[in-house]
Amino acid sequence: MPVDSAPAKVRTVALSDFTTLKVGGPAELWEVDDEQGLKDATSEPYRVLGGGSNLLVSDAGVAERVIRLGRAFNDVRAFGERHDAWLGAATPLPGLVRRAQRAGLSGLEGLLGVPAVLGGAVAMNAGTRFGELSDTLQEVEVFVDGAFERLPADRLELSYRRAVFPPGAIVTRARLRLTRSDPDAVARRLEAVDGARKGQPKVKSAGCAFQNPAGDSAGRLIDEAGLKGLRVGDAMVAHEHGNFILNLGAATATDVRTLIAEVQSSLAARGVELELEWRLWGF
Ligand code: FAD
Ligand code: EPU
Repeated sequence: MPVDSAPAKVRTVALSDFTTLKVGGPAELWEVDDEQGLKDATSEPYRVLGGGSNLLVSDAGVAERVIRLGRAFNDVRAFGERHDAWLGAATPLPGLVRRAQRAGLSGLEGLLGVPAVLGGAVAMNAGTRFGELSDTLQEVEVFVDGAFERLPADRLELSYRRAVFPPGAIVTRARLRLTRSDPDAVARRLEAVDGARKGQPKVKSAGCAFQNPAGDSAGRLIDEAGLKGLRVGDAMVAHEHGNFILNLGAATATDVRTLIAEVQSSLAARGVELELEWRLWGF
């Protein structure tokens, strides 16, 4: 394991400070750096926080402990030229994507622009039409029922924005296998992904709110329904892309939740069931 014994750091925080949407109430945050910290933190009901980029947390916060993996699980600096490597789940994906490009390693280009940490990207099987995390994922280490366990990727039922873990499992590390490539070729693929993301809004959000229905784009359907610009308080359906719900500044979680429900009911009236991609906490 990463470091010698380091007690969990425990404090009460506003989860709005830990989510990209910048909404969410209080919780007890347990930041853990080793096995003992994980054991202590998981002794009571808990949730696991990654980069907070796919979460809508209620204004009342959550009653459970919120566990976040600390620096000992961040291997971004250690990521070198090895094409097959174990990486800590707190490693930020944007740094990995950049380092892989410099090292001439291909496989992560499709994840450009996903502001996750590795554990959250594994849990969601994050991706774009240019590639998903599952393309490179070989194996994961999880902490579950008080012990570490390794699971091969083919046990995780990985599919579009989906991975299945034993209940309560915390992804602590993941083994990714990249392929050797010319750094310029990797850079060109990154440019293509960047180009496809150009139309996405830059304002506070948690990415696409809804999963795409098979063969279609939720954003396109929301656009077609004329819902861009629909607003509840400071929560708004983005003009740039219909599947992005933005916090224009002072949105509450209730505003965002209400807006989601309005979008879903408008689409339901047109015969489309939209399923949330975001994870809801405390509702
Ligand atoms: P969080 O949001 O913190 O958590 C998400 C879920 O994963 C929660 O259920 C949480 O409990 C669980 N989880 C987190 N860490 C762990 C762990 N270590 N062990 C077990 N469970 C864990 N997503 C895409 O797929 N494609 C995109 O193109 C994309 N673009 C985005 C653009 C923007 C601007 C933003 C804000 C978000 C975007 N997203 C995109 C959404 C988001 O980045 C992904 O869903 C990402 O995988 C979430 O990772 P996270 O680390 O932020 O996880
Ligand atoms: N479109 C519209 N209006 C809109 C949005 C999209 O007409 O408001 C049209 C586009 O013109 C295009 C089609 O719909 O013809 C698809 O749009 P886009 O390329 O933006 O892809 P998407 O399916 O809407 C998906 C992912 C994004 C990912 C992009 C890029 C989902 C739910 N969304 O969006 O992922 O970044 O592809 O590959 O799968 C996320 O999951 O959070 C996310 C941002």
